[in-house]
Amino acid sequence: MRFFVPTDIYVEKDCVKNHAKNMLAIGHRALIMTRRHSAIANGSLNDVTEVLKAGEVPYQTFSEVEENPSTDTIGKAAQIARDFNADFIIGIGGGSAIDAAKATALLLVNPDLNADELHKAPSHPLNHAPVVAVPTTCGTGSEATPVAIITNHKIHLKKSIPHVIFPALALVDGKYLATAKKQLIVNTAVDVLAHMVESILNVKSNLFNRMCPEYGLKLWGECKDALLSDEGCTATNAAPARETAAPIDASLYEKLMLTSTIAGMAIAQTSTAVPHGMSYDLTLNVGVPHGPAVGYFLAAYVEVCAKFVPQDVEKILALLGLKNIEEFREIIRKLIGTCTVTREMRDKFAAAMKVNHSKLDLVPGKITPEDIDYIYEKSLIVG
Ligand SMILES: [Fe+2]
Repeated sequence: MRFFVPTDIYVEKDCVKNHAKNMLAIGHRALIMTRRHSAIANGSLNDVTEVLKAGEVPYQTFSEVEENPSTDTIGKAAQIARDFNADFIIGIGGGSAIDAAKATALLLVNPDLNADELHKAPSHPLNHAPVVAVPTTCGTGSEATPVAIITNHKIHLKKSIPHVIFPALALVDGKYLATAKKQLIVNTAVDVLAHMVESILNVKSNLFNRMCPEYGLKLWGECKDALLSDEGCTATNAAPARETAAPIDASLYEKLMLTSTIAGMAIAQTSTAVPHGMSYDLTLNVGVPHGPAVGYFLAAYVEVCAKFVPQDVEKILALLGLKNIEEFREIIRKLIGTCTVTREMRDKFAAAMKVNHSKLDLVPGKITPEDIDYIYEKSLIVG
């Protein structure tokens, strides 16, 4: 058994300021990658730039990272990094910004690699420039994983790139959640739940690496009442709710961030499984954000896995403080609502999933095509 996360991770209030020396030791010229607004609003960009200014480390900011970062954006950022002679990349934001920072760090030191070739398996492991991750959402756990999910619009593909890129340093501070909308926190928390459930219901799960998802599920269970506090909001893929809800209790920010990072450490060992494999089509074709796109499939996946590893499903439910799978399904429905697609879409997604062996081979039992159909039927409304 092995447990491998080579990232230096700090989780605490004022983390960036407290560990300025660690960040300044990573490199001499930085490209900062963010979304357009959130890193300014939550104060994370200011925290990072203050440290760089005080340490006299020149930096340039690239704030064009979009949700589901594209190969085009990565190619552009890498060229800017090269022109600026950057020797490290700082990703500030959710999974999009950190994943984009990872992919840019790879291109930066491999100038012969074209951004459109990011999804091609390399003949040998490639080096990358060091990455500093400053997460500002409690979702992807990208600060603790080697994974970067990148979209190539030219070939209609959203997928992780086959390169191992752990950040050198992760500075995790729950205070950045203060300006996040409630529904964003809920959506990302559902992604975190999926990371931990898919890590346990996974052939790569073992006694050693379970320490992360098992502890994380307990923490998530302690946050669930706060996440559910706007009962009556009904989110759907057409109408997200909680856009104007009161922010979540500040005392939970650090716990939510910690859970997200722990869940990242979990999938760094096992990778994600079938619900994540199913989610990418929903995001790419229907525009559903990542957390709900995964969450819609989660209860049915748990139900199918209960045939193979009932004791693991029991354990997951117990750690979350839930009585049965129906209660698990109901909580997710309250958090993210329902998703409606056309029958044609659902059948097309199911057909693609039936040959997605990179995810199917992780199921801890012999999953059948009928099981796949069942998950789609149970998870998506046809309309
Ligand atoms: Fe995810």
